[in-house]
Amino acid sequence: MSLIIAIDGPAASGKGTLARRLAEKYGLNHLDTGLTYRAVAHRMLIHGLPLDNESAAETAARQVDLGALDRAVLSQHGVGEAASKVAVMPKVRRALVDKQRQFAATPPGAVLDGRDIGTVVCPDADLKLYVTASAEERARRRHAEIVASGGVAEEADILADIRRRDERDMGRADSPLRPANDAHLLDTTTMDIEAAFRAASGLVDRVIAARTTS
Ligand code: CDP
Repeated sequence: MSLIIAIDGPAASGKGTLARRLAEKYGLNHLDTGLTYRAVAHRMLIHGLPLDNESAAETAARQVDLGALDRAVLSQHGVGEAASKVAVMPKVRRALVDKQRQFAATPPGAVLDGRDIGTVVCPDADLKLYVTASAEERARRRHAEIVASGGVAEEADILADIRRRDERDMGRADSPLRPANDAHLLDTTTMDIEAAFRAASGLVDRVIAARTTS
């Protein structure tokens, strides 16, 4: 029986690491749906297309290949900002959500992380998590990540970017970032990844146990 875990939350909340580790532990496929929006933005940027060109963005979205998402290229900070601009477009979302749903439906099931997984992509997921942390803590983590990979950035600038991106993601009309009604909230502001992973694993174990006894 297939298992689907939906993980949503704002930028740098720790949802990506959590999703990857849960997928590994439970033998599920993993899709970071943020990379799909980043892939669209990246294609627009390298072709010099304006980010508000909806028909070009829709074409780019249809060409996204889930098997060929290059994290090293797509995870650049500027691509995330551009991704949140193309992510407001309903046609882009529809094209990507179709691909994400196909991925989720493939056995043995999957962990998907993003902004609208529990609300739109997989509303019937077996478990939904909404992972948050304060904007300051998220800026601190993102800054540490950039420094660790040899980059240079001002933490204050990252905090401003994060706030701007939160506003865009929570304020858009199509599929805004918000917890699904049946999502479990996980605030990781004072939690390290191990503690967050333990809490999330406990919830997955409960879902699996409930299935085997019913
Ligand atoms: O890693 P980070 O949290 O910085 O960003 P991401 O998850 O890679 O997502 C980049 C952008 O794509 C987000 O700011 C959203 O605007 C958009 N996105 C979305 O709209 N829906 C998703 N399911 C995933 C990402």
